[in-house]
Amino acid sequence: MPLYEGLGSGGEKTAVVIDLGAAYTKCGFAGETGPRFIIPSEIQKPGQQQSVKVVQYNINTEELYSNLKEFIHMLYFRHLLVNPRDRRVVIIESILCPSHFRETLTKVFFKQFEVPSVLFAPSHLMSIMSLGINSALVMDCGYTETLVLPVYECIPVLSAWEALPLGGKAIHKELHTVLVEQCTVDSDSSTGQSLPTVIGSIPEEVVEDIKVRTCFVSDLQRGLKIQEAKFNLEGTAERPTPPPDVDYPLDGEKILHIKGQIRDSVMEMLFEQDNEEKSVATLLLDALVKCPIDTRKALSENLVIIGGTAMLPGFLHRLLAEIRLLVEKPKYRNALATKTFKIHSPPAKPNCTVWLGGAIFGALQDILGSRSVSRDHYNQTGRIPDWCCLSSPPPESVYDAGKTPPPLMKRAFSTEK
Ligand SMILES: Nc1ncnc2c1ncn2[C@@H]1O[C@H](COP(=O)(O)OP(=O)(O)OP(=O)(O)O)[C@@H](O)[C@H]1O
Ligand SMILES: [Mg+2]
Repeated sequence: MPLYEGLGSGGEKTAVVIDLGAAYTKCGFAGETGPRFIIPSEIQKPGQQQSVKVVQYNINTEELYSNLKEFIHMLYFRHLLVNPRDRRVVIIESILCPSHFRETLTKVFFKQFEVPSVLFAPSHLMSIMSLGINSALVMDCGYTETLVLPVYECIPVLSAWEALPLGGKAIHKELHTVLVEQCTVDSDSSTGQSLPTVIGSIPEEVVEDIKVRTCFVSDLQRGLKIQEAKFNLEGTAERPTPPPDVDYPLDGEKILHIKGQIRDSVMEMLFEQDNEEKSVATLLLDALVKCPIDTRKALSENLVIIGGTAMLPGFLHRLLAEIRLLVEKPKYRNALATKTFKIHSPPAKPNCTVWLGGAIFGALQDILGSRSVSRDHYNQTGRIPDWCCLSSPPPESVYDAGKTPPPLMKRAFSTEK
């Protein structure tokens, strides 16, 4: 149970804040400094060995409903240990979240758990709440993708979003491939066996553990040399000396030898430019070019980088170095009206920044009350207004009678008629 509940809140219990990510769900209570729990967004189905991810967009609605129901039940009754009927809910959503997913999630909260109200808050906007700034170029480098969205004077500039499917998932896939190709395993009986002969494939959580414990992002000069050596088929370009090999215990009795060259090169995939000359660094600059020219300086001087993948050692340093190299290229030199780039350091770890913003927002009880969609309203209409959809603004009854929504959120959520 949360400590000091009810204190200073006029009797209303603090809201529950949930950031339902593709890999990890962060959940806790509004007004606190960090999430109480960070758990994998997965459920275990009876009779199935493999756990099922709850954030899946390509499954039918009934299955999604049942998965979400089970997951939210686990959140409330195994982790948060509070009555869902007592507390408002703040849900952090990605701007790329399909409508059918948010509608199903809302149905689960209202119909299954009978929560008093739900507020969907866009993740990029929430992340700047934790810094107290109004404008920022926000990049979320999470599990499924890297998504850049500028926010200017608290308005997400939707026309300028940029995304690439580069994140934890893509890194795990690449790392798995190179581990299987290049690494050997020692066991009690024999040494130097190739990995597929010992275990068919490595579970994703083990690949993730290997990534977090052994891999890092090389600095710019080193990274460029690694890329040059990789793509130079004649073998004339020399690769920088790799870091030492690492022995990783596998299954308790086997030892996996991880080559040094895997440790420093696997993250290069984030910065290598693809056929369309896109990388994680160009996303930021491309988004900037799409913004009005008079906003660019404010945005480039307020970069906010969030998401778990940004926690890789050396990531931010490399990103800034890449940007500084790219702005000198003709493509950007002539188009951008700015050359100064500064990265904020938010008061939480990158994977929890969004949650913290939501927790700050959820603690503002007046705003929360007036901006949330109540259960009564949902039961009457069966719909949840889409914050980015001007064609279906919510009726006035969504808000408390006589209260005008504060200007910040009025603009940010664009739900006015
Ligand atoms: N300390 C760390 N070092 C490196 N990587 C990390 C670290 N902590 C988490 N990650 C990676 O970050 C990813 C998860 O990030 P995050 O929690 O932001 O994603 P998510 O919110 O679940 O996904 P998405 O935002 O795509 O829906 C995982 O791939 C995880 O391996
Ligand atoms: Mg996320």
